[in-house]
Order: sequence, then C-alpha cells, then structure tokens
Amino acid sequence: MPVTRPNNTGKEDMEYKSVIATQRGGPEVLQVVGNDLRAPAAGEAQIKVLATGVGRTDLNYLHGYSPFSPKAPFVPGYEIVGVVEALGAGVSRVAVGDRVAALTGHGGYTEIIYLGQEHLAPVPASLDPGEVVTLVLNYVSAWQMLHRVAKVKAGDKVLLIGASGGVGTALLQLGRLAGLKMYATASPEKHYLLAEMGAFPIDYHTQDFVELLRQAEPGGLDFVFDGMGGAESQRGLAVLRSGGKLVAYAPPTGLGRSCWVC
Ligand SMILES: NC(=O)c1ccc[n+]([C@@H]2O[C@H](COP(=O)([O-])OP(=O)(O)OC[C@H]3O[C@@H](n4cnc5c(N)ncnc54)[C@H](OP(=O)(O)O)[C@@H]3O)[C@@H](O)[C@H]2O)c1
Repeated sequence: MPVTRPNNTGKEDMEYKSVIATQRGGPEVLQVVGNDLRAPAAGEAQIKVLATGVGRTDLNYLHGYSPFSPKAPFVPGYEIVGVVEALGAGVSRVAVGDRVAALTGHGGYTEIIYLGQEHLAPVPASLDPGEVVTLVLNYVSAWQMLHRVAKVKAGDKVLLIGASGGVGTALLQLGRLAGLKMYATASPEKHYLLAEMGAFPIDYHTQDFVELLRQAEPGGLDFVFDGMGGAESQRGLAVLRSGGKLVAYAPPTGLGRSCWVC
C-alpha cells in the first residue's frame, strides 16, 4: 500500500529513488528508478539512507566476479548509514529518529531501505555518516578475519597482501592495535601509510615478497591475509610456517580477472 513521507518542500513524497544495475557491466549499466513507498512490514524499519559505500565488492558484484553476485537487475550497495523514519509492528530495538548502520550486501544505493531490526547497529548522531559508512564492510571484515577466523595474538607475524585497499587499511589499523608484526604489499606511493601503521612495506611491482620474506622470516609467518586472490594466494602459502594459515578474502580467481557468475 503506498504511504507518504514529509519532505522539506512542504509536500509529501509517495515515491523514492534507487539505483539499479540492469545487467552485468560497469557504471554504464546503472539506472535511476522510482519505487512506491510502502508501510514497513512487521519487524522492519523504514530507513532514509544518508550514506552508502562504493568499494571493490560493489564492482565485483556489478561485473559478476564474485560467486555471491546478485542476479541482475539488482540494487548495489553493500553498506548504509541512515536514519529510522518509520517502524513496522513489533519493532522495539530502534526508534524513529535513530541513526543506524547496516551491512546490506546489496540494496544500499537507494533513498529508502526496509530492513529487519536485527540488521541494525546504532550510530551516534554526532558522527559524519559519510565517514562512518566506510567502516562497516571494511572493518567488520577485517575484525572478523583477525579475531574470529585467525584468532591472532600479540607478536604474531603476518603478511597483508593488498594492504592499501579498504579492507587492507582496516587490517593494518586493527593489526597494529593487536600488536602484530606486519609485512604489507602495496604500490610505493602508499608505503608511507603502511609505515605509519607500523608495517614493513613491500612494493609488489618490483619486489618478490616470497624471496624477501624467506630471508627476513626464515621460520615462516603465522598468517597471510590475502585480498588479491589468484596467484597471490598460492605465493602467500609459500611464506607460512608449518601450521600457519592463509586467510583469503578476495575471489580465488583474483581481482576482476575472470567472471564467475555472468
Ligand atoms: N570476504 C569478504 O568478506 C570481503 C569483504 C570486503 C572485501 N572483499 C574483497 O576483498 C578484495 C579487496 O577489497 P577492497 O575493497 O579492500 O579493495 P580496494 O579498496 O579496491 O583495494 C584493492 C587494492 O589492491 C591493490 N592491488 C592491486 N593489485 C595488487 C597486487 N598484485 N598485490 C598487492 N596489492 C594489489 C591496490 O593497491 P595499490 O593501489 O597500492 O597498488 C588496492 O589498494 C575484493 O575482491 C573484495 O571484493 C571481501
């Protein structure tokens, strides 16, 4: 059933806009479409989106490089920060006016989104939504890999492959807090960032990290976190100690190098 919402023109909106990917491809396949507003279903909140992220995973989904790419047409957008506008029956964990964040997977490129209350995390209203939204996918992924998958401890020796990216930067910051000894690959213009985070920078264009690490850490590393996939994963295995672990978080075929689900 269509419903209305107030806006700053004094009139009421009955429609909201979303961006859809009409088929596999790049930005040229994106289109703006209108949707009817509806009342939130039981357990759902209606959220006005204030910020959404654009990251490598959105591109992987658009192009179909990930096994999890939604079928087209779909609304991209892996994460949002927004404000709750209306509540369905039985919602008790959030109230109208609350600022919230959610890991949507897709669906974030929209003015309005309807999400179950269990998907919403509180966000202080004093923070910039554009800054907060960059934390959602990158830092949830990095934190889970470090502390739930690898269960790192202070002093562990790790290699971060693709350390200058969104997830890589989160791994660097959280890795420093965890007291890790970090080696990290990136292009040279970003090495200052890696060094600021306490990592030993490696230029993947000109240096062979396998050779370099076999000399620097002959006993091998405890963990490799690989954001590239493909051949880099295989090379990552070569620098682990016996019993060490590779945590690979990119499509195994590599960044945008082949199409899994076209
Ligand atoms: N599994 C999950 O939960 C999860 C969550 C988030 C992301 N991901 C996936 O993780 C991957 C990375 O995502 P992201 O958002 O962090 O990407 P991003 O921000 O686009 O960063 C990618 C980085 O790759 C670097 N790079 C390219 N080729 C490289 C190579 N051969 N060796 C080392 N670095 C290289 C670039 O570094 P330079 O500019 O320094 O060259 C760039 O900073 C994507 O495939 C994404 O879909 C998975």
